[in-house]
Amino acid sequence: MKIAVLGFGNIGSGVVETLIKNAEAVAAGAGEAVEIKYICDIRDFSSHPLKDKFITDFNIAANDPEIELVAEMIGGLHPAYDFTKTALENGKHVVTSNKEVVAAKGDELMELARDRGVRYLYEASAGGTIPILRTIADALRVSEITEINGILNGTTNYILERMRIEDISMAEALKETQEKGYAEAVPDNDISGADAARKICILAAAAFGSLVDWSIIPCRGIEEITVEDIEEASRNGRSVKLIARAVKLKGGKIHLSVEPMSVISDCPLFSVNGVYNAVLLNVKDCGEMMFYGKGAGSLPTAGAVIADICDIVRHKGCKSDDIIWRRDDSVFVPDLPRDIIDRTELRLGFPV
Ligand code: HSE
Repeated sequence: MKIAVLGFGNIGSGVVETLIKNAEAVAAGAGEAVEIKYICDIRDFSSHPLKDKFITDFNIAANDPEIELVAEMIGGLHPAYDFTKTALENGKHVVTSNKEVVAAKGDELMELARDRGVRYLYEASAGGTIPILRTIADALRVSEITEINGILNGTTNYILERMRIEDISMAEALKETQEKGYAEAVPDNDISGADAARKICILAAAAFGSLVDWSIIPCRGIEEITVEDIEEASRNGRSVKLIARAVKLKGGKIHLSVEPMSVISDCPLFSVNGVYNAVLLNVKDCGEMMFYGKGAGSLPTAGAVIADICDIVRHKGCKSDDIIWRRDDSVFVPDLPRDIIDRTELRLGFPV
């Protein structure tokens, strides 16, 4: 299958590198070779070894009948959303790592993909390398998920660990995450909790079917967290983590939130450190399940994008049974009932 890669930044370059380096394994996993025909980026790559593949005008790829799939890794809502829409309208599959587009427009783009008989997959948009969205959509499709507690932002988790172990300032630790390619282009999205808020809305939509606008959920980031807060938690045998939550309440309502919490040592999220993410699910009749892996970084995230590419190539010609979310802010409730707050304090921890 011939594909176009859209965006040659941190993740896009990781996808290109992996597709070339692991071409044989990808072909074996996908059932046929995956060939990059275009890499679309507005910057100048005229001295890059792959210079012949670079284009600056996405319409060349969008109008090329040979291109069957577009891997969108531009980041940001526009023009990524507009290009995705064009690609789907032109009958091309799209895979993405772009949580801003999935959180804002996922429902609409899924419907468009279904109408055009193509697929829109977004595994890399939440949980980095962890195959959590396909697990929810596939292995847990008939299970009832009642609660999700997650560490969904690698940058803030890395910063909190560096502040704990090295006693360095948040600004110094943030600089390290930028050097390692973990932080967002606008790192305020990490620090403020906005990135984790988008990701918990994506996970909740996958688990509960309703996509809620991330900007309406209660969200506190780590701006106010000090080395003293972290030391105090350590003294009490706890650890400060930025926790994103989605709780299904009686009557089908959903509570969503992001806030720093002092996590107890008995909770599996306690030991999730550095750039790692974890998603702790509560599943009816099954209890807790935890999924763990690197939440940011070029190659781990590229792995999730490539898994989506292989899924599409392997199932080419099959009728898609992908789930379509509905946008529904009316299911959202900002506050948790007292009994759930009490249970949370016992099993997870309390807000810092
Ligand atoms: N800035 C994000 C994070 C990148 O640190 O989790 C992965 O979505």
